[in-house]
Amino acid sequence: MTNSRQHQNPSHSSSTIPPSASSSSSTSATGTARDRLTSLSSHIMGSNGSASVFTPAAVAAAPEDPLFGLMKAYREDPFEKKVDLGIGAYRDNNAKPWILPVVKKADHAIHNDPTLNHEYLSISGLAEFTSAAQKLVVGAESPAIREKRICTLQTISGTGAVHLGGLFLAKFHPAQPKPTIYLSNPTWANHNQIFTNVGLPIATYPYFSAKTKGLDFDGMIGALQAAPTGSIILLHACAHNPTGVDPTQEQWKQIAAVMRERHQFPFFDTAYQGFASGDLVRDAWAIRYFVEQGFELCVAQSFAKNFGLYGERTGAFHFVSAPGADASTAIQHIASQLAILQRSEISNPPAYGARIASKVLNDPQLFAEWEEDLRTMSGRIQEMRRGLREQLEKRGTPGSWEHITSQIGMFSFTGLNENQVKILRDKWHVYMTKNGRISMAGLNTNNLEYFAEAVDSVVRETS
Ligand SMILES: Cc1ncc(COP(=O)(O)O)c(C=O)c1O
Repeated sequence: MTNSRQHQNPSHSSSTIPPSASSSSSTSATGTARDRLTSLSSHIMGSNGSASVFTPAAVAAAPEDPLFGLMKAYREDPFEKKVDLGIGAYRDNNAKPWILPVVKKADHAIHNDPTLNHEYLSISGLAEFTSAAQKLVVGAESPAIREKRICTLQTISGTGAVHLGGLFLAKFHPAQPKPTIYLSNPTWANHNQIFTNVGLPIATYPYFSAKTKGLDFDGMIGALQAAPTGSIILLHACAHNPTGVDPTQEQWKQIAAVMRERHQFPFFDTAYQGFASGDLVRDAWAIRYFVEQGFELCVAQSFAKNFGLYGERTGAFHFVSAPGADASTAIQHIASQLAILQRSEISNPPAYGARIASKVLNDPQLFAEWEEDLRTMSGRIQEMRRGLREQLEKRGTPGSWEHITSQIGMFSFTGLNENQVKILRDKWHVYMTKNGRISMAGLNTNNLEYFAEAVDSVVRETS
């Protein structure tokens, strides 16, 4: 108190203890006591006089996000032939971000539309966007749409959709205690953080076989059978991140059969529809199959990758009620509660990316051009997969490299271990996550051979 008053009124403090008085011995003792008091109180209150509760001791420094740390290290590396295989964003053959031609076109049209303004969207988002997003993911002819038992809210990209879904399940799932959400091992790192933040218990199911570098199907099925009935199972709809390994359609059917028997709730995360295979219908197959099977489920949908709208945060969250007499009433209740959650979290979603996506999704001509752009991106990635495998096999690099072409989408789980990844970075200036994942989009005809040479050298050196 004394200290803060002195700060507020320095003239008052100086008149109480004149500076000249400090030379006399009696006032010097007072001065020392005052100094001690000041130092003690500034220790307690902070040097500017305001008490700090959030001291460094109270709030430990968080570890740096590994992916963003990797990006920073790459940017700061002056080596000319450095290779960035870290971040999950598409790059063209010159390692540059690619604005989809159809997005440029839609952007131009929006820019020149005199009727547009910067008003708020509604809480659930741009209606033309959410209805088109819904059709894209479950299919225009879906029984869920026909029977009015699906609701959709526009979200802050896929991350926001996963979060909104997680929050809804944590708050409204009637089971007590709350059911556990099962995540694939491994999964997109943010899943763990998001579901922990909303307070859902987390467990994992086996997914990747280090031996085959493919799906550990038996492990996955066994874990689903062993998981309690009513558990929530997070499923990557296609192009699994980080492994690039997807179940076959036959395997999806078996997964659905077990989940139906165990009354488990599918939570689909779809961040790569159309980007994975170049075919929007094929990449949505698993979700549509589960809907046809009558599951009650939810879907978090991202338009970051398939539209290249990374920074515009364009996504949607869908909830599908199981068929039944009260399904459409249930979905109205669910939509109303989701709107309340959305209101308290973001109030209303951002307009710009949704306008672009909506323009393309609702215009048959632009839609066809988008499909062409999707084929351009997925085709280049597939070409890089074939090229990398060929380069490694040509060099006789120890091990099998068949998985590079059997995996799909943005990522490949190479099977390279942490030590090999470290050597690749230190010696070859190749940047990738330490679990051995590479972003295939980071490869191009200019660096493919260099990367293959680096992998070949490191694998030989360490085996
Ligand atoms: C599996 C998965 N889900 C969700 C997302 C969300 O991405 P965004 O929030 O950029 O749409 C990503 C992005 O990498 C992802 O890989």
